[in-house]
Amino acid sequence: MVQYTAAVITASDKGSRGEREDVSGKVLCELLENEGFIIKDYCILPDERDVLAAKMRELCDEKEVTLILTTGGTGFSPRDITPEATKDVVERETPGIPEAMRLASLKITPKAMLSRAFAGIRKRTLIINMPGSPKAVKESFEAIVGPLGHGLDIMTANDSECAR
Ligand code: MTE
Repeated sequence: MVQYTAAVITASDKGSRGEREDVSGKVLCELLENEGFIIKDYCILPDERDVLAAKMRELCDEKEVTLILTTGGTGFSPRDITPEATKDVVERETPGIPEAMRLASLKITPKAMLSRAFAGIRKRTLIINMPGSPKAVKESFEAIVGPLGHGLDIMTANDSECAR
């Protein structure tokens, strides 16, 4: 199996000021490591569109990680801006991924419809937004992890066939 690199961004004003422990980001790192990913970067950033987009660009263009998972900032609060920052950065949308997360999550809670999570590809990096709570990141990750490796194989040209 190919070992891919990954990064986790937690979008949280309080987390970035050290006023709240970032459980969700740590949960995501653990879930990724359990799946064999190598974590290249993990950070907690404020809910600022330009700050989030700049970090995503750096991770895609300079660190060249294969996967970026974000947690937080996907809801309806006026400060929730992660999907917009992600849209600023991606070149191709991957709508099936948030669709799959919401489909699975709606079976757990109707509040899943309140996540505006977005996903897409910039160069050879897939960026996926996830909601902010530890419970939500675990449920969202479980909803997409199955076919994720196949998608990353195709994106990085380790596999061009979709026959499996
Ligand atoms: N998805 C799953 N799987 N489980 C959850 O508990 N919570 C929802 C939703 N998605 C939830 C979920 C709630 S309550 C909100 S408000 C939105 O995600 C947005 O969360 P965010 O603002 O922390 O990103």
